[in-house]
Amino acid sequence: MSAPRRLWRHDEPSIRNYAVALLSPALALGIARWPDVHLESAPVSLFLCAVMFSAWLGGVGPGLLATALSAAGFAYYFVDPVLSLAVAAEEMPRFIIFVLAAALVGSLSAAQRSSMQSLRKAEEALRENQAELAHVTRVLTMGELAASIAHEVNQPLAGVVINGNACLRWLAGESPNLTEAREAAERIIRDGTRASEIISRVRALARKTGTLAERVDLNQAIQEVLALCAGEARKRGVVLRTQLPGDLPPVRGDRVLIQQVVLNLVMNGIEAMSNVQHRPHELMIRAQGEAHEVRVTVQDSGIGLDPQTLERIFDALYTTKPGGMGMGLSISRTIVENHGGRLSVVAHDGPGATFEFTLPTHS
Ligand SMILES: Nc1ncnc2c1ncn2[C@@H]1O[C@H](COP(=O)(O)OP(=O)(O)OP(=O)(O)O)[C@@H](O)[C@H]1O
Ligand SMILES: [Mg+2]
Repeated sequence: MSAPRRLWRHDEPSIRNYAVALLSPALALGIARWPDVHLESAPVSLFLCAVMFSAWLGGVGPGLLATALSAAGFAYYFVDPVLSLAVAAEEMPRFIIFVLAAALVGSLSAAQRSSMQSLRKAEEALRENQAELAHVTRVLTMGELAASIAHEVNQPLAGVVINGNACLRWLAGESPNLTEAREAAERIIRDGTRASEIISRVRALARKTGTLAERVDLNQAIQEVLALCAGEARKRGVVLRTQLPGDLPPVRGDRVLIQQVVLNLVMNGIEAMSNVQHRPHELMIRAQGEAHEVRVTVQDSGIGLDPQTLERIFDALYTTKPGGMGMGLSISRTIVENHGGRLSVVAHDGPGATFEFTLPTHS
């Protein structure tokens, strides 16, 4: 759509550039032949200026035209025989040197112009790339946000379905068990509420609007997560153990998000032990208060981490599991770092893997 405009824009300067290439040698000639300025014996510098200016403004074509016109003017008016385009044999070196000098000056100016143009084009391309990159980053952020939400609400949604089915079962038959049905309905409400809380917290996390800085009792938060995972652990034959000191200082942060970190680490641990035989399936969760932070470690006796996997586990979408999204650890790291803490893998004796994160204490 913009092609005709570009053509018009391109044509006008090139006409102007050739006009300048015509006029500037003529002007140089006029000044050189003007008796009052006494330049008849030194016209070369004026012609070179004309060539340089034409080539700088218009590039190779106008530069060549100005060179040719200057050479003609120089031969006609300043080289014997004067008032003729012929060049006497003894004047030939002077004329050739003039033409070579004009060609050199013209080509240097044209080269400078073309490098300036490339620079300008490169700057334009850079600006365009930057705009595109900003767009891609926005799209990626949206994709990651969707993936994070999908990952984190998966578990409470599964809970809603399981409890919904249980509720229907308790209500069926001749004598429905209303107490159990009510409890199942309450669990549905709990899981549904949790899912909606998670969505709003993960969105806030992606918008970087700052996470909540409430006082969180980590022991209680961890126990709640373990209650959520108890069914899954039982199903896979995993025993969940804890070492949670009663005097653990409270931490500062967003309870729902901190629980997501614990949940992701615990689920990874449980999954890592699924296919391991001849070893007890034990997952140990420890918390420990330190000077200004609390350290939580989650240790499993699962398949462990080989060096290649270790390098990539925190990358978004990296997974070695058939049904995995590869989001758990990347979200967890973002959450912990937004809280001013660190999440890492720690070396330990024996089989399995140990993950550890810290959170600042609430003062
Ligand atoms: N405790 C662990 N033991 C061994 N490998 C682990 C452990 N935790 C994580 N990993 C490795 O790190 C990878 C990334 O983990 P992450 O939690 O980010 O994604 P995922 O568990 O594969 O999928 P999901 O998005 O469902 O959590 C896993 O696929 C696994 O290879
Ligand atoms: Mg995971």
